[in-house]
Amino acid sequence: MKVGIVGGGVIGLSVAWELLRRGAQVTVYDADPGRSAGRVAAGMLAPTAEAGFGEEALQELMLESMRRWPAFAAGLAAATGMPLGYRTDGTLLVALTDDDLAEVRRLVDYYRRAGTPIEPLTGRRLRELEPLLSPRVRGGALAAGDHQVDPRLLLAALRSLPVRHEARDVTDLSSLRDDVIIVANGCGLAAVAGLPVRPVKGQLLRLRGPEPLLTHVVRGVALGRHVYLVPRADGELVVGASEEERGADTTVTAGGVLDLLRPAADLLPGVAELALAETLAGLRPGTPDNAPVLGHLHGNVYVAGGHYRNGVLLAPVTAHAVADLVTRGSTDVDVSGYGVSRFT
Ligand code: GLY
Repeated sequence: MKVGIVGGGVIGLSVAWELLRRGAQVTVYDADPGRSAGRVAAGMLAPTAEAGFGEEALQELMLESMRRWPAFAAGLAAATGMPLGYRTDGTLLVALTDDDLAEVRRLVDYYRRAGTPIEPLTGRRLRELEPLLSPRVRGGALAAGDHQVDPRLLLAALRSLPVRHEARDVTDLSSLRDDVIIVANGCGLAAVAGLPVRPVKGQLLRLRGPEPLLTHVVRGVALGRHVYLVPRADGELVVGASEEERGADTTVTAGGVLDLLRPAADLLPGVAELALAETLAGLRPGTPDNAPVLGHLHGNVYVAGGHYRNGVLLAPVTAHAVADLVTRGSTDVDVSGYGVSRFT
């Protein structure tokens, strides 16, 4: 089977890899893979800390994908011999003030009611786990089942697989001669597939120091401002991310940087000593219900997109389910809530 995949980001390349493993010949069409949302992603694999109120169904899919991540990472590392920065240290929810802690406790209660394992922690216990957190931190929780990966290493590994890459933007699907076409071009789904996918801007910082300041990923709230801190083993600290409805704008603004640095330094004062290595803005592909679109569009065309805040996490389950649909016509993953028909 010859499969054409429109979009060479984390989702398109993960689907490509799964189809390669099933014996397909795969061509990935993308004029500029460098603009993919994965380039700007932090790489939190956080089915607990990234699940919001009212997202119980989506969280099921996130948890299903999380269960697949260890084998996905091991298989990709074995296939390519390349590192992915995969880490299993867990996510800490961290609150600065009593009001912030009240917010974290509401989330923790919600996760517990949903049956998601999460352990409330005092400020003292948090500082035992992460000694460089501010002494002002009041408390939080540990989501031990959350992991992380370095999305740039992930993209490099996926791009090294034996897939044909064609550097062109596809605007007219009828110009492709593949047996099956999968549209996985993120925000481009609106123009190419007519689906309601909109860009949600995220600004993000990469800070750098000689040593990592943290072991765990931290999802923090400080004086009502939200931030996440993702430490890498080489001393990089990713600080993210804003959520802005500004169309396709990718300007990094002074206010955006301030809104990330302020809560980051409140929670982890050592942040102020780090080098500000890179400031970035990217576009998440958001759908009206924040959930991805996975399934058949029409004729020989399928869709894998609209993953919003969770593209990296949802890559393994997306690859498996979409490859199943393409090669077998059905899948053992429950994708009934993620079809195209909910928007048409
Ligand atoms: N998952 C993190 C973000 O979208 O910013």
